[in-house]
Amino acid sequence: MAAEIISGRDLAQELRQQMKQKVTELNNQGVFPKLSVILVGDNPASKSYVNGKKKACKETGILSDVIEMNHDTTEANLLQQIEKLNEDPTVHGILVQLPLPEQIREQKVIDTISYTKDVDGFHPINIGRMMTGEDAFLPCTPYGIITMLKSKDISIAGKHAVVVGRSNIVGKPVGQLLLNENATVTYCHSKTKNLAQITKQADILIAAVGKVNAIRAEHIKDGAVVVDVGINRLEDGSLTGDVDFNEAKEKASFITPVPRGVGPMTITMLLENTIKAAKGLEN
Ligand code: GUN
Repeated sequence: MAAEIISGRDLAQELRQQMKQKVTELNNQGVFPKLSVILVGDNPASKSYVNGKKKACKETGILSDVIEMNHDTTEANLLQQIEKLNEDPTVHGILVQLPLPEQIREQKVIDTISYTKDVDGFHPINIGRMMTGEDAFLPCTPYGIITMLKSKDISIAGKHAVVVGRSNIVGKPVGQLLLNENATVTYCHSKTKNLAQITKQADILIAAVGKVNAIRAEHIKDGAVVVDVGINRLEDGSLTGDVDFNEAKEKASFITPVPRGVGPMTITMLLENTIKAAKGLEN
């Protein structure tokens, strides 16, 4: 069976069109959604991600500004900058691009961002609210994955979802969101024994490992839905995921490609969260 490809790019485009409309409506009420991004240092990948976010905001009518800070800036300096944005009523969303230089504690930075402006969904209050099912900012990549599955009417309730990878940004929260949708969830990671034996039971398989070809035909059940979250750069400069796409597409019922899969959805959900921030979280 050849899998149906879920195009994140096409879905992202469609959703961003709808968001443009929402932003115009907010503008007509005197609300101008704004995202402030802090970029510390000059990591080329981070710069490129930040540029992508800035461009996407512009296309959607969302205001954005990028605050660039020196690589050797102190943690205190960065926290002070965040506090300033917390108090600025014209700023609805705050995003500090990760990773940060080693003199800065990442968790301290995340904890300092007001949870009401935490459009990344990384703040412990938002993580807690996500777990209890209260209104929260959902982390963008996991939120994008669930949105992709729903766009294809893929039923999640009662399905066995296997998540390979346990990062705070993707693996852990995507498992929680699948659980919220009533999936039976199994997490696998670098210490998991007999990986293929477990992944072969997955109706929905999420690969968030960060390793080329970590998931191959032998890991996939016939008819499974395969979501590839990996973004790995090959020596020739091209991008590839964690899944051997050519092998997997022969077994899966649905598959997300890399590029043009989950990636464009991550930024799209950031735009969605920024619009939500402009409206305010429910209590
Ligand atoms: N670095 C890589 N991915 C992300 C993300 O989703 N948010 C932030 N803030 N930094 C990142």
